[in-house]
Amino acid sequence: MSAMAETNPVHVSLREVTGETVRTICRLEVKPTQQNFVAPNALSIAEAYFTEEAWFRAIYADETPVGFVMLYDNATEGRYYLWRFMIDQHYQGLGYGGRALELVIDHVRGRPQASELGVSYVPGEGSPGAFYRRYGFVETGEVHGGERVMRLEIEKR
Ligand SMILES: CC(C)(COP(=O)(O)OP(=O)(O)OC[C@H]1O[C@@H](n2cnc3c(N)ncnc32)[C@H](O)[C@@H]1OP(=O)(O)O)[C@@H](O)C(=O)NCCC(=O)NCCS
Repeated sequence: MSAMAETNPVHVSLREVTGETVRTICRLEVKPTQQNFVAPNALSIAEAYFTEEAWFRAIYADETPVGFVMLYDNATEGRYYLWRFMIDQHYQGLGYGGRALELVIDHVRGRPQASELGVSYVPGEGSPGAFYRRYGFVETGEVHGGERVMRLEIEKR
């Protein structure tokens, strides 16, 4: 973790999206150059509505909504996958994404039969591959629909 993140007094948390906050969460956006890396939050929430295994939360920095995360969470098969992850363009580079990812990993660690967390990313300029590598994800060598697959081994506490 960066020195900045260690000294950052801002508290990052994952919170349920509510009827009161859903419009605000749907207005959070990545940079135009990043739009091919992640779907809009409104689309993710709509897909979640039709997917029993979807688990999603808004990412807050103190009381400010700054991002969104969605997991594919299949507790029956013990399969966990980071499906969507974004920090709004105005709040990137402040350590929030890294902290939120740690919270997500902690959450998955507590899920039934969790041994790994998968993610896939669109390669290219500014892609999040290097970001995930910082947090221990390793390339599996698989490519799904043009996206490179990575996995993180989840150690039980
Ligand atoms: C990837 C993303 C979530 C990172 O969030 P963030 O809040 O900007 O990240 P942080 O500020 O916590 O960065 C943590 C560290 O990772 C590094 N980092 C951030 N994004 C990076 C990237 N794309 N490539 C390499 N390193 C990156 C930062 O420089 C920082 O390093 P430091 O600790 O040395 O300062 C955010 O940039 C984003 O939403 N990107 C667009 C959407 C996207 O690609 N989502 C993933 C879909 S699979």
